[in-house]
Amino acid sequence: MQPSLERLLRHSLRGFAPYKPGTSVDEVKRRYGIEHPVKLSQNENPLGTSPRALAAIQKIATLSDYDEDDHATLRARLAAPYGLEVANVVLGHGSNELVMLVFNAFVDPGDEIVIGKPTFSLFRKDCDVVGGRTIEVPLRDGVHDLDAMLAAVTPKTKVVFVCDPNNPTGTRVERDALATFARALPADVLLVIDQAYREYMDASGTDGVDILRIRPATLVLRTASKIYGLASVRFGYGYASPEIVAWLNRVRLPFNVARPAAVAVLAALDDKEHMARSIDNNVRGLAQFASAFEKLGVTAYPSAANFVAVEVPIKAEDAFLALLERGVIVRSGDGLGMPGRLRVTVGTEAENLAFLAAFGDLLAQWRTRPLEVIA
Ligand SMILES: Cc1ncc(COP(=O)(O)O)c(C=O)c1O
Repeated sequence: MQPSLERLLRHSLRGFAPYKPGTSVDEVKRRYGIEHPVKLSQNENPLGTSPRALAAIQKIATLSDYDEDDHATLRARLAAPYGLEVANVVLGHGSNELVMLVFNAFVDPGDEIVIGKPTFSLFRKDCDVVGGRTIEVPLRDGVHDLDAMLAAVTPKTKVVFVCDPNNPTGTRVERDALATFARALPADVLLVIDQAYREYMDASGTDGVDILRIRPATLVLRTASKIYGLASVRFGYGYASPEIVAWLNRVRLPFNVARPAAVAVLAALDDKEHMARSIDNNVRGLAQFASAFEKLGVTAYPSAANFVAVEVPIKAEDAFLALLERGVIVRSGDGLGMPGRLRVTVGTEAENLAFLAAFGDLLAQWRTRPLEVIA
C-alpha cells in the first residue's frame, strides 16, 4: 500500500478484502467462447422482470427533477397488507443499503453483532467497516443455531442478524423457535431478520412482521431484487417501529430511492401473475433438483429459497471451474463459507436441465479421481 494511503485509511479497513461478485455472463463468453452460458449464480428471477414493472418504467416522462424523498405512497402500499403505518416502513437502495444503515445508526467501534456462520457476507463486512466485532455462530445442520446465538449475546451486543431463509444454505428456521428466540433476546438488542427470499417460502415459514409485532426492536428486511426481478433498479425495504425507521432515515442519503425503482416496484407489487408464475417455477425447479440429486446420490440442504446448496466430492472451487468451462455459472461455496458445496440458483426448467446434465457428467468423473488429487 502507498505510504500516504496507509495513514489515510480508516484503521478498521486495514486488510479489508474487496467484494467479489459472481462470475458474469460476459466473462464466461469471453474466456470460454461459450455463446449462451447458463447463469445460476446470483439468485435472480429466471423469468425476468415483472412485465408490469417494465411497462411502468417505460412510461416515465422525465428524470430531470429530484424525486420525492419520503415515497409515502409506496410506503403506504408496502404497509397496507400488514395493517402497518407509513412510519413503519423504511426504503433503501437495495436492502443492502438498509444493512449498512443499521451499522451507521447503531454500531460503535467495539460493539458486537451476532450472526450465523455461514450467512450473508455483508453483515460481517459492514460491521468491519465501522470497527465492530462480529461473533459468528456455526449453523447446526445448515440451520441457524438459535440457542447458541442467544448464548453468544453479551452486554456489548447491539444487533443480531437472522437470515431467513439463509443465504448461502437456503435453509429456514422453525417459526416457533424464532419466536421463542425473539422473546428471549434482551429488549435493547436489535433483531434484524433478513427475508430477501421470503416470497419463496411456503406457509410454514416465518413472516418476520409477526416477530415485529411481539418485539419492537426488530427490523424485517425485504427486497425487490429477487422474486420481482428488479435487482438492477436497486430497491429494498424494511418493517420496523417508527423510532427505528426514523433513525435509519436520519442516516441515509437523501433521495436514496431512484424514480425508476419506485415506479417499477409499485407496478410489480400489483403483478400477481408474475409473482404466481415465479413461485410456481421455483417450486417445480426445487423438486427437479431434489429428484435429480437423489438419483445422483448427492445431498443438499432442504431449501426454502430460490437456490440450493449441494455437496460435491471435490473442492468446491474446482467443481465451480469445471462447470464454468461447460458454460454453467454457479457459486463456489469456498468463498461463501460453505466449503464442499456449490450454491445453485433455480433457473428455468431448461436451465436446470443444462446444469444437471453437466453436473451429472462431471460427478461421474470426480468420483473416479483418486483421493489425493481431489483432497
Ligand atoms: C440475504 C440477502 N439479503 C439481501 C440481498 C439482496 O440485497 P439487495 O436488495 O440489495 O439486492 C441478497 C442478495 O443476494 C441476499 O442474499
